[in-house]
Amino acid sequence: MKRILIFLSFILISLSSCTGKSAVVETKSEKEHMDIAVFLYRNDDHFINTLKEAIEETAVKNEKDWGKGTYSFTYFNGKNQNEIQINQIKEAISSGADVLAINIVERGSAKKIIDMAKEADVPIVFFNRQPIDVDMARWDKLYYVGLDGIQSGEMQGEIVADYWNEHPEMDKNGDGILQYIMLQGQYNHQDTILRTKYSIETIKKAGIAVEELAKETANWQRLEADSIITTLLGVYGDRIELIISNNDMMALGAKDAIARRDKEVYIPTVGVDGTSPAIEALEKGELIGTVFNDAKKQGEMVARLSYYLAKGIDPASDLENLESGTYYWIDYEKIEAKKEVVLPVTQKSKIEDVSAQNIEESSETD
Ligand code: GAL
Ligand code: CA
Repeated sequence: MKRILIFLSFILISLSSCTGKSAVVETKSEKEHMDIAVFLYRNDDHFINTLKEAIEETAVKNEKDWGKGTYSFTYFNGKNQNEIQINQIKEAISSGADVLAINIVERGSAKKIIDMAKEADVPIVFFNRQPIDVDMARWDKLYYVGLDGIQSGEMQGEIVADYWNEHPEMDKNGDGILQYIMLQGQYNHQDTILRTKYSIETIKKAGIAVEELAKETANWQRLEADSIITTLLGVYGDRIELIISNNDMMALGAKDAIARRDKEVYIPTVGVDGTSPAIEALEKGELIGTVFNDAKKQGEMVARLSYYLAKGIDPASDLENLESGTYYWIDYEKIEAKKEVVLPVTQKSKIEDVSAQNIEESSETD
């Protein structure tokens, strides 16, 4: 009998070790450590880096409430290449990531990524680069944190219209038409499409006639914008009355190009983001305005949502304004330069030169 008992307990012990952690898939609540994998489209985009810092800060700030050591955020640099990012996501899923926070390189790949995540039952928080609605509706464990691109375009347009109305000298050639250059972000990005469209529509709605001299993409990058504007200055020179840029970094690149020119030209320039270098430029009167794209808030919300999902907490329990249970929207804010610093002296003297020249010309023809 004793023997049998020993034998039985041996069986029981072996059975229980079979059903232990390694043999059975752990459920979320049993897991002690949650891995949140964060995918950035590239790691040298100023705005995205500010957003990433906010994710890191939020993760640290909440350690006490969230349980230090029970979760971690790991970051991946997609190097602006679709294939690289897809492989990173694939690997993260297979190594057991609990949540994916994705700043997608190529919006067209959302379906593929969603399918992979859904199969492994890993929720996704997309941010900053918005998959199309049809893709977002593919699964109920998809979220998006971002802002409405239309709003930023409209605010840019308002900044320009205000400036035009307050500064008649902006119309350098006096033809009543605003000649502008549009600097675009990456093609296919919702912010590129919407800011480009709605900024110009808003200017027109304000009753201002416009003429597009050129529209070029600088892929959100300062250096690319610098080189494009260097070329365009050679072509259009003083005919350019406005540079409207889909983001601040390209606006600053345009300013770099203008500053390097021998001849002093002042071209009113407007951006989007409200990043710190842009605010500095704005204070010096180098930009006429920008639209604040709250990176801190976005980072915070990405971190919060990801954490809730990792811990199996219903995000809606803390976030009231989750539209359709999916979208967390943040508002843009308009930042206009202070009126008195807007017009640098160089511009004034330039205008005096031009009007003096006009008088000479008209007296010649008399
Ligand atoms: C935009 C932002 C740009 C750039 C881009 C990256 O919202 O204005 O500066 O960071 O996102 O996706
Ligand atoms: Ca004009």
